[in-house]
Amino acid sequence: METGQTVDGITISDEELKSLTDAIQQRHGIDFSCYEPKSLKRRVIRALHIFRLGAVHELWIKILKDHSFIYPFMDEISVGLTSMFRDPVLWKKIRFLLSDHFAGNKELSVWHAGCSTGEEVYTMGIVLKESGFTRPAKALATDISNQAMTTAKKGEFNEMKMEEYDKNYLHFNPGSTLKKYYSVRDGFSFMDTSLIQHVTFKHHNLITDPFPKNHDIIFCRNVMIYFDNRAKLALFDKFYDSLNPGGLFIIGFYDAVLPLVDPTKFRVLDLDAKIFQKQ
Ligand SMILES: C[S@@+](CC[C@H](N)C(=O)[O-])C[C@H]1O[C@@H](n2cnc3c(N)ncnc32)[C@H](O)[C@@H]1O
Repeated sequence: METGQTVDGITISDEELKSLTDAIQQRHGIDFSCYEPKSLKRRVIRALHIFRLGAVHELWIKILKDHSFIYPFMDEISVGLTSMFRDPVLWKKIRFLLSDHFAGNKELSVWHAGCSTGEEVYTMGIVLKESGFTRPAKALATDISNQAMTTAKKGEFNEMKMEEYDKNYLHFNPGSTLKKYYSVRDGFSFMDTSLIQHVTFKHHNLITDPFPKNHDIIFCRNVMIYFDNRAKLALFDKFYDSLNPGGLFIIGFYDAVLPLVDPTKFRVLDLDAKIFQKQ
């Protein structure tokens, strides 16, 4: 049983969290029962700061009284830290697999589940381009946050972030520069959106919505950290059904779900890069 959690002087008890999530479920039909309570409490406290509210009951009242408040609230709750070319070892491995594992000429189908503001989607676009991959490719990018996906579609990132992204990219392609893929204006970087012209963005809740099928590669990185083990197990089964035979399932470095992976369904293709293959 979780106890009260204090961050920056604000404490949230189990009862407060439950009354808040029950109110949201009743009013908006959003189910938080799969979310890991400790990380949910941290995120609620973060939202309290952002919306300048002093306590959970103020948030509770705002959610009940102001019907449209749920949208900015959910954007804050599900906000995702992401980065371009995060975990270079993964992207190097994917570059190799694209020529080795996915040779042929059938259309490649990729799903970015929990794509956030699109850094992973642009990264994959660059990897496809630079690996000389000749098959046609299509991708689906989904998230629970519409606000994040609006940023993704525009490809508009704070210029300060690009320094870190460029450093990551250098590990992937030493001697080159990410700058060739964006222009800078008024403190913002504008990505070359032709990198994602094969991508369709769609709102999708991994816990409640049906899963799209027939994918060759599914990325679900740094999303399952929010979910409890029961939800993770259910997600693994659904991702398995969504993959084509031999398809790849890629999770985040800190998702820490290895003991939950059913070896009769997935074999470990690359442990360092956290790539699994449908058996
Ligand atoms: C930390 S970001 C990960 C972004 C990207 N996959 C990466 O690793 O760079 C987590 C994303 O998961 C999304 N998310 C959280 N709960 C979700 C759910 N139930 N269904 C779909 N997306 C969800 C959040 O909105 C957020 O954009």
